[in-house]
Amino acid sequence: MDAINIEELRILARKRLPRAIFEFIDGGAQDEGTLRANQSDFGRIRFMTRTLSDISKRDQSVELFGRRYLSPLVLAPTGLAGLLWRRGELAATRAAHKLNVPYCLSTMATCSIEEIAKAGSEPNWFQLYVLRDRGLTKAFIERARAAGCSALVLTVDTKMQGPRERDMRNGFTVPPRFSPATLLDFALHFRWLLNVALGPKITFRNFLGTGAESSDAVTITQFIAGQYDLTVAWRDVDWFKSEWGGPVLLKGILSPEDAKLALAQGIDGVIVSNHGGRQLDGALSAIAALPAVVDAVQGRIPVVLDGGVRRGSDVVKALAFGARACMVGRAWLYGLASGGQDGVERALTILRDEIDLAMALLGRPTIAELDRSTLVL
Ligand code: FNR
Repeated sequence: MDAINIEELRILARKRLPRAIFEFIDGGAQDEGTLRANQSDFGRIRFMTRTLSDISKRDQSVELFGRRYLSPLVLAPTGLAGLLWRRGELAATRAAHKLNVPYCLSTMATCSIEEIAKAGSEPNWFQLYVLRDRGLTKAFIERARAAGCSALVLTVDTKMQGPRERDMRNGFTVPPRFSPATLLDFALHFRWLLNVALGPKITFRNFLGTGAESSDAVTITQFIAGQYDLTVAWRDVDWFKSEWGGPVLLKGILSPEDAKLALAQGIDGVIVSNHGGRQLDGALSAIAALPAVVDAVQGRIPVVLDGGVRRGSDVVKALAFGARACMVGRAWLYGLASGGQDGVERALTILRDEIDLAMALLGRPTIAELDRSTLVL
């Protein structure tokens, strides 16, 4: 694997995947303004370097919920990773644990909570969508606990699915409406065809036997679409806290007012996120939203930045604003598509090494030394 940066992994992923699959991961909502801003707003922040400090000992390790990790990175929950690489979530969890960073499993994974727990060497985080059927939601919480997950991530920005127009154009819909040209494109990607399409049946394994009428992915997607709970509100947060009994993070916070409400409700961490630009196009970028959220929670709970991270220097900027860590989504998906577990390891190694170098060149070799004086807007 000779990609030297995340963009090169993206280019490899684009070559390896059929177009409809690549665009499913690469794309965002509508005009993709928020998707672009997630990345480009990092570019508007510059570093103020310091010189002549001893940088011989550098440390990017972080503590999250009582565990120490080697890098301030978390693999973001993403559905359908098995479409990119056979048993994609297993590959990702193994890579994350090898590099000693947390892996957050999506409700919409193609491998089940139990399969993932068996494969990894460390506890994972589990991401939950709030479903109307509270019995089913409770069952997910119990399964995540039994599988040893160490944190529960409630995604709160997806009461309805965002309008992803590239998916509509490609017929990547429910049910799928693939044109003959798209089907031909699938067939022409031999390596993907052998690895994924001819591999084990792809479906949402967490949902097998939970109420959908059959085990195929389309039926389960239709079942889940009817399960999004539009009524869920702040009054329900207590229920999740008490059912889970461990750290609960809210994923999808942009507003400092929401961050204050989360704090008041006893939430253990907030993830500043617009779902990677896949929900409301026009929403604030994650990095632009971060400083006000950090100020709102005043260091009382960890804040995780999620969205647009493609360079280690992006992570360093987020940490300087006061984030504890960054989630990365597409960065590991591009790695997965280009080389399975090796590809995810490559993505994580690239980011880890870039963080290390940025901290060294900044003259601030420890995370404690990264503060807002590091940044110029
Ligand atoms: C996602 N994301 C996501 N989030 C979530 O809470 N549950 C999920 O099942 C998914 N699924 C998903 C699939 C794909 C293909 C993508 C690209 C993203 C959002 C994800 O967790 C994260 O918020 C973004 O990916 C962060 O932006 P970057 O790092 O991709 O720029």
